[in-house]
This record gives sequence, C-alpha cells and structure tokens, in this order.
Amino acid sequence: MSEKDHKVSRRQFLTYTLTGVGGFMAAGMIMPMARFALDPALKAGAASDFVYVCDEAELTEEPQKFSFSFDQVDAWYESEVSRDAYIYIRNNEVTALSAKCTHLGCTVAFDTQEEYPNQFYCPCHFGRFDTNGINIEGTPPQRPLDAYEVKVEDGKVYLGSIYQRT
Ligand code: FES
Repeated sequence: MSEKDHKVSRRQFLTYTLTGVGGFMAAGMIMPMARFALDPALKAGAASDFVYVCDEAELTEEPQKFSFSFDQVDAWYESEVSRDAYIYIRNNEVTALSAKCTHLGCTVAFDTQEEYPNQFYCPCHFGRFDTNGINIEGTPPQRPLDAYEVKVEDGKVYLGSIYQRT
C-alpha cells in the first residue's frame, strides 16, 4: 500500500471532526432529557407498598369505611394522599373496596338508604352497588367498585395498589 492510500483528505477530516463534535453535543443534550424521563421510573417506587389501615379484629361482615393516608412520590413531587376504603370479611377473606364511585368519582356510602338496604349508594347521580361492590344495572356506574390488594399479617390489615374489577 502506498502512503497515498492512507491519506485523509481535508474534506474527510472535516466530516469526521464535525460528526464527532455533533454527536458529542447531541449526547450532551439527550442524556439529561433521558435521565429526566427515566429517573423516576428507575427509583424504588412506592406503588406496590402496603399501608397499615386497621386491625383484623375490627372487621365484620358488614363493610366499614376506613380512612388512611400515605406519602406518594410522583417524579420529584412528594405529597400525602388520603384514601377511603370499605373493608369487610367476605367468604372468610378480607375484602377492601374503594369508596370512589366508578361513575364520576363521588364517595359512596354503605347502607344509608332505607329503600336500598345493604347497598353502596352514590348521592351524586343515585348510583348503586350491591354488597360485593358490583354495579346495579339501570344506575349510572358501568363497572364495579375498584378493589385494593390486601395483605394480613399478625392480625394487621395492609392495603396495597388499587385495581379495576370487570
Ligand atoms: S358519581 Fe356516582 S353515580 Fe355519578
């Protein structure tokens, strides 16, 4: 091979240099954005954390409303979130339902209407759910009340993530 074959032309040198500098600058701009987008997702999340709500001994077969709160970290914003749940024992299992109506999110109450005994009732648009939280046909809610993951340890009831039932 002659020396001429290895020679880099001025045009090639400029192309390599500009490509390198451009790539370096692009990485400098993209890396902070990627870190910004991914960092919260990579942090140890509290999404699957369970929160103590009550003692199992307090529960009956009739749904009772319990309020609880927990710290939520959403990206870099930390806040205290309050929730209500109806917790009761059904078929020897602790069941926890969200108190939020699945129509437009008002708070439901249990067994407060004389004409609808043992039902969850939503005062906003007269939505109703049976004792298992299943929406009653002919009322506005189109799906059952959401439920919480439940964990019972040493007689203490912990609630985790909320999920939709079909
Ligand atoms: S919000 Fe409950 S029925 Fe509309």
